[in-house]
Amino acid sequence: MSEDKAALIDPNNLPAHVGIIMDGNGRWAKNRGLIRSKGHREGLESAKRIVKAAADLGLKYISLYVFSTENWKRAEDEISFLMVLIKTYLKSEFQFYKDNKIKVVHSGDLSGLPADIQKEITSIVNDTKDFQGLTMNLLINYGGKDEILRAVNRWRRSGDTGELTEETLYGFLDSPVVPPLDLVVRSAGEKRLSNFLLWQSAYAEYYFSEKLWPDWYPDDLYDAIIAYQNRDRRFGGVKK
Ligand code: IPE
Ligand code: IPE
Ligand code: MG
Repeated sequence: MSEDKAALIDPNNLPAHVGIIMDGNGRWAKNRGLIRSKGHREGLESAKRIVKAAADLGLKYISLYVFSTENWKRAEDEISFLMVLIKTYLKSEFQFYKDNKIKVVHSGDLSGLPADIQKEITSIVNDTKDFQGLTMNLLINYGGKDEILRAVNRWRRSGDTGELTEETLYGFLDSPVVPPLDLVVRSAGEKRLSNFLLWQSAYAEYYFSEKLWPDWYPDDLYDAIIAYQNRDRRFGGVKK
């Protein structure tokens, strides 16, 4: 089944950068009478499946919204579960990154995270920096507005006395190696950005799916890419 769908994808028109707002873990658990953390655990399995499918497809960049600057509003036990999940995941997946040549980068305010998570993020970014396949941008303690503000403040402190240009600002974002988004995908029926990569999504195509994140399989990623390949991207110009 998956192979049939993958065969419908034009390998010469892949989105260079796909962003995913992985939403619906809580609802998935609730629908089964389970606690929210069970949904997050399943959501992690989905993320692994989708990242593997993205790497196999030959995508160059994927951004995954893992924990937003707004998610601190959640209950303490949910937050600590998520932090433990993130830490364990980063620690245990090195072989997977190595086998699939995945370079991990981080976006978000590292300084606002617990010290042990900061350490895991820094070491996995360093350990995978020479891998040349898919670049996986993990958004942890990330907010689009927060990223832009921190970029502007870093620029101000850099001593640059010229005018701030789009290119200069991009260079001060958290992960300037990651190009602007071609495709933004959101699961679980919500049609909003929730502060996801605001600057980078200026000209992205959007794909919304009703499916809850833990129910995502490679076919769902293929559907999103097929939809993207049927869009007419004009960037403000006129279709030739
Ligand atoms: C997304 O699932 C995961 C995170 C935000 C960490 P949610 O936890 O937001 O799931 P819903 O939206 O409550 O179903
Ligand atoms: C966005 O989902 C953040 C992540 C997926 C990490 P939320 O569930 O937090 O967003 P809202 O609250 O529906 O806007
Ligand atoms: Mg949600």
